[in-house]
Amino acid sequence: MSVTKEQVLKALSNVQEPELHKDLVTLNMIKNVAVCEGHVKVNIELTTPACPMKDQIKGDVEREVNKIDGVNEVEIEWSANVRQTPQSRMFLPGVKNAIAVGAGKGGVGKSTISVLTALGLQREGAKVGLMDADVYGPSIPKMLGLEAEKPSVRDEKILPLEAHGIRVMSMGFMVEPEKAVVWRGPMVHGVVQQFLSQVDWGELDYLIIDLPPGTGDVPLTLAQSIPMTGALIVCTPQDVALLDAVKALRMYQQLNVHILGIVENMSYFRAPDTGHEYDLFGRGGAKKAAERLDIPFIGEVPINIDIRVSGDKGTPVENFEKTDEATREAIMSFVRNLAAQVSIKNSQQQAPLELKIT
Ligand SMILES: Nc1ncnc2c1ncn2[C@@H]1O[C@H](COP(=O)(O)OP(=O)(O)OP(=O)(O)O)[C@@H](O)[C@H]1O
Ligand SMILES: [Mg+2]
Repeated sequence: MSVTKEQVLKALSNVQEPELHKDLVTLNMIKNVAVCEGHVKVNIELTTPACPMKDQIKGDVEREVNKIDGVNEVEIEWSANVRQTPQSRMFLPGVKNAIAVGAGKGGVGKSTISVLTALGLQREGAKVGLMDADVYGPSIPKMLGLEAEKPSVRDEKILPLEAHGIRVMSMGFMVEPEKAVVWRGPMVHGVVQQFLSQVDWGELDYLIIDLPPGTGDVPLTLAQSIPMTGALIVCTPQDVALLDAVKALRMYQQLNVHILGIVENMSYFRAPDTGHEYDLFGRGGAKKAAERLDIPFIGEVPINIDIRVSGDKGTPVENFEKTDEATREAIMSFVRNLAAQVSIKNSQQQAPLELKIT
């Protein structure tokens, strides 16, 4: 007896999406099933191209479909459709998810983590924008090698610059570098509002927003202006940084901004010659804090000379191509975990779509 599509769908309904905790059929992730004698082809649509669970899903699908009598080959074709945070379209047309990258303390690596996140997601195939909302000390233009650039204006909209495959907007494009910008609260509010309403971001899966340190006017304005998907908290392992990170986290919670998780930057140092890992600042503090606060731990990024040098030179791609494999893996692991948290957040608010099988 030949294998039927119904049998395959039934088998697929036994496969759980490991993080969304529902089966692939219910989640409308199965876009097509084709059967040709013993050969089964399944099209699976992920909720992010940066899905950390792809290998597990692949293994589970192969196992379940292979249980059907008569199946001798399972082929999977992947696609991705990033889900949108509800209401986002009303405020930022085209932007599916706005993610704030914040911290309590200065210098812990918010801008670095913002750049790595944006580029990591782009390299996985997502459409990404990066908004430098650090109006006091914008560092994104330098980190991306865009210091001499100026955005253009079309139809009264500011067009973000394009760099390394991501769209970028920064106060640093508007004011001369090294000229200290002194802003009062209402002016900060105006500038952030302008960035949100007058920049033509186009279609984006993720807009990463790099924040200034602390719990001041910028996060407040953002939280009041747009329905963000959530905030990523960056900290280093030292107690003082953790203490400030918790303060920032509480502020977001008070502003009703969802916490996507916490990432530990400069977590450890890996000696390039021996591979030995040194816990310079007491690695693991952020993970413990995440457990205590019951928020997701997104990952840890080592202190690495390539990360610092590429930030100074404006060559962020090197972090994904030149730096050592262990560091690259650590970066991609946190990027994928963050993407998964975005999918989880969105799936909690959305009813499954209608199932269509052709
Ligand atoms: N994992 C890392 N390894 C090596 N250097 C790092 C790492 N993370 C950040 N740095 C370096 O530390 C410095 C501060 O980082 P960054 O500017 O990203 O911090 P920040 O939190 O955005 O600072 P600010 O509060 O001023 O906005 C930069 O020189 C950056 O290159
Ligand atoms: Mg910064």
